[in-house]
Amino acid sequence: MSDQRKGIRKGLTRYGDDAFSLYVRKAFIKAMGYTDDALERPLIGIANTFSGYNACHASVPGIVEAVKRGVMLAGGLPIDFPTISLHESFAFPTSMFLRNLMSMDAEEMIRAQPMDAVVLVGGCDKTVPALLMGAASAGVPAIVEVTGPMLTGTHHGERIGACTDCRRFWAKYRGGEIDAQEVEELTNQLVPTAGTCGVMGTASTMALMTEALGMMLPGGGAIPATYADRPRHAELTGKRAVEMAAENLTPDQVMTPAAFRNALRVLHAIGGSTNGLIHATAMAGRLGIAIELDEFDALGRDVPVLVDLKPSGQYYMEDLHRAGGLAPIVRELRDLLELDALTVTGRTLGEEIDDLPPAYPQNVVRSLDDPLYPGGGMAVLRGNLAPDGAVIKRSAANPDLLSHEGRAVVFTSLSDMAERIDDPGLDVRADDVLVLQNAGPLGAPGMPEAGYLPIPKKLAEQGVKDMVRLSDARMSGTAFGTIILHVAPESAAGGPLALVQNGDRIRVDVPARSLDLLVSDDELAARRRAWAPPAPHDGAERGYLNLFLDTVTQAPEGCDFRFLKSS
Ligand code: FES
Repeated sequence: MSDQRKGIRKGLTRYGDDAFSLYVRKAFIKAMGYTDDALERPLIGIANTFSGYNACHASVPGIVEAVKRGVMLAGGLPIDFPTISLHESFAFPTSMFLRNLMSMDAEEMIRAQPMDAVVLVGGCDKTVPALLMGAASAGVPAIVEVTGPMLTGTHHGERIGACTDCRRFWAKYRGGEIDAQEVEELTNQLVPTAGTCGVMGTASTMALMTEALGMMLPGGGAIPATYADRPRHAELTGKRAVEMAAENLTPDQVMTPAAFRNALRVLHAIGGSTNGLIHATAMAGRLGIAIELDEFDALGRDVPVLVDLKPSGQYYMEDLHRAGGLAPIVRELRDLLELDALTVTGRTLGEEIDDLPPAYPQNVVRSLDDPLYPGGGMAVLRGNLAPDGAVIKRSAANPDLLSHEGRAVVFTSLSDMAERIDDPGLDVRADDVLVLQNAGPLGAPGMPEAGYLPIPKKLAEQGVKDMVRLSDARMSGTAFGTIILHVAPESAAGGPLALVQNGDRIRVDVPARSLDLLVSDDELAARRRAWAPPAPHDGAERGYLNLFLDTVTQAPEGCDFRFLKSS
């Protein structure tokens, strides 16, 4: 290989003398023990997201080894490099605040270092979208290997797994059904192995969407982190990366508008996380592709929820793997998908579906004739409260609350909610609408997963399990309830959500896709004149927070930074 744009010769450091740059580069890389033969091979980068803080990525070293084996079997030279690693529970104020930073890290490291293709190893919620956003912008052939889901644990004989059951048991604790000692005991079993959350949370959603998007080898979306199938899949991914380098199969050839529509159809069919919509929008935006909320809603009307996984259903990701992973889902959806979309295999999605192994009996993925939930598992609402849209996961909501009018009980911030939600004196009833303001991209900041407002303790103790809840925040894909999210524009940007006051009437009509504040236009105009933006965040005058607040977009644009989008 002597092409100046390939392998070790790619992207030479600028000393003003390319021959010198190559000579010095070789001298330094040889200190790692490589021979000239190795250094003349196609060079495959591996984005290594291992971190001691990230249990979802605990298996990454083994995956990287397997990818390297595959690369070498195909005649390439693998070199892994570190990137930012984000774990949901170890990121302050929220991992979403850092997703774009991770995407910039991935993009610039892929671009700055010589590599003919890159294998993106990720898993926990924000890591896969961040890696794909970065790779899409870098324009280097890229393929994803996810860490895979964790296995389930047991508690007092009951099968449990993160993190739908984390929330279910926490709600029981708040309702006085279990005590603090049992909660402590649960921390030993809720996350029993390495891997991502074992339900249809954001990580599982992104893994399956990535496979449907065509950016992962078939069969990889649901393999548990601890199964031998996972490193076997990773080895094949490494091999394929070498071929992709030769074919120059760049992300823009795979991540096309049709491929994104396929991924969004799969998002509906799996009863996936609402976060999948935000991440897909951000990923598409890197390639100049717009995902419109109304198009997303329309796509979903034809696609029923087929996958019987928590939080919409009953099973876990390891069950989906045994049922065939994405294969039975796309087989069932075949007539609804755009089959010409190219995948990282170099073949179309239709060709891959045609080559799937024969179906076998299983009870995790339903048929189109017998879905878990009819079309529109996720819906987009609009109205005077959300002129730019809001999202609800219907399949995880209480059907009795989908058409509801109630009195607003307003919390002006996350800290206000934390202070007052359990106050015995809080004026709240089960048929009220809980409203959280200032929890959007700018308001919180970072749009945390705070949309799953807890049921006020005094109602939880009376057995109330669900209420209509409304905010400009996001929600974990593992959560459930009648929860309206991503209200846009957000309240900190002066959206109508900022004008809601205690006692206002709010009407939600999900079948009609409407969300309205029943307050007169004159009154709303008066409130708007009196409105003042929230006080600036501490530390907002400098650093990453300053960049974030200056450039982050609203939820319908994927919360990417404006300057990272492609026009
Ligand atoms: Fe990592 Fe759930 S916390 S996937």
